[in-house]
Amino acid sequence: MSALPEDAAASAPAGATALSLRDVTMRIAGLVALNDVTLDVQPGQVVSLIGPNGAGKTTAFNVISGYMRPTAGSVTLFGEEIVGRAPHEIAARGLVRSFQRTSVFGQSTVFDNLLTAYHLQGRVGLVRSLLRLPAFLREEARLRAQVQTMLDFLGLAPRAHELAANLAYGEQRLLGVGIALAAQPRLLLLDEPAAGLNPSETDAFKAMIRRISEQGITVLLVEHDMHMVMSISDDIVVLNQGQRIAAGPPAVIQQHPEVIRAYLGSGLKRAQA
Ligand SMILES: Nc1ncnc2c1ncn2[C@@H]1O[C@H](COP(=O)(O)OP(=O)(O)OP(=O)(O)O)[C@@H](O)[C@H]1O
Ligand SMILES: [Mg+2]
Repeated sequence: MSALPEDAAASAPAGATALSLRDVTMRIAGLVALNDVTLDVQPGQVVSLIGPNGAGKTTAFNVISGYMRPTAGSVTLFGEEIVGRAPHEIAARGLVRSFQRTSVFGQSTVFDNLLTAYHLQGRVGLVRSLLRLPAFLREEARLRAQVQTMLDFLGLAPRAHELAANLAYGEQRLLGVGIALAAQPRLLLLDEPAAGLNPSETDAFKAMIRRISEQGITVLLVEHDMHMVMSISDDIVVLNQGQRIAAGPPAVIQQHPEVIRAYLGSGLKRAQA
């Protein structure tokens, strides 16, 4: 399987935790959506955030990516405090949240969807691109090569010239992640990427998360599919009603009485359904 373009896998400064939440509280209209939550994600890890509906998982993503300012607490990204920073500033520091269908242009080909995503990262200005100056043409060739590498990485090369709207649901999800990867994340946030996927699509997705991780990109995942979570996570953090009730490797979380009581009983049933 091919690797991502080299600059996609920028690594963290030595010693810095990729992501760290310290005593993060988020009150929304009188409700405590996150209550003193602490969690760490080490560089290169795949960490899953799990818990029942309403536990605060998406709220945590909103806080981490700067869409919500926490009521209290600290969030550091590769060692730098990011509370109070705008989403685009946090994204510029290497945090990318995957958007799925919304970011895929159905009436463009798979190739052009990715080319547009790479153009958004491009360093060539509008004037030069309109004039098609040599710098633009060189950049264009470089971006096209990156798109080809990404297509191979995603396993979508045979579908490159298909309209995105004609892809199967699982393939659209893969393309959505490819668009996120084009932004060259150091930390990738995925909120329920396997929702609605059939078992073979879920397997393809699992394999892709492993390959992303092998490229040195850190992954934080919210997911209800417990088979997926247990098989790909280095560490799992469990939220329930805004509180962290457990954290540890899959083997520990699977046996944790409070986690089983609050979530895993129903979660495992759902995963098998
Ligand atoms: N913008 C908002 N306005 C009001 N309440 C909100 C808002 N966002 C989240 N909440 C509340 O915060 C709590 C946590 O919600 P959140 O969406 O983070 O849960 P979740 O763990 O992602 O759940 P799910 O598994 O269903 O996606 C819920 O009680 C929810 O109703
Ligand atoms: Mg959610």
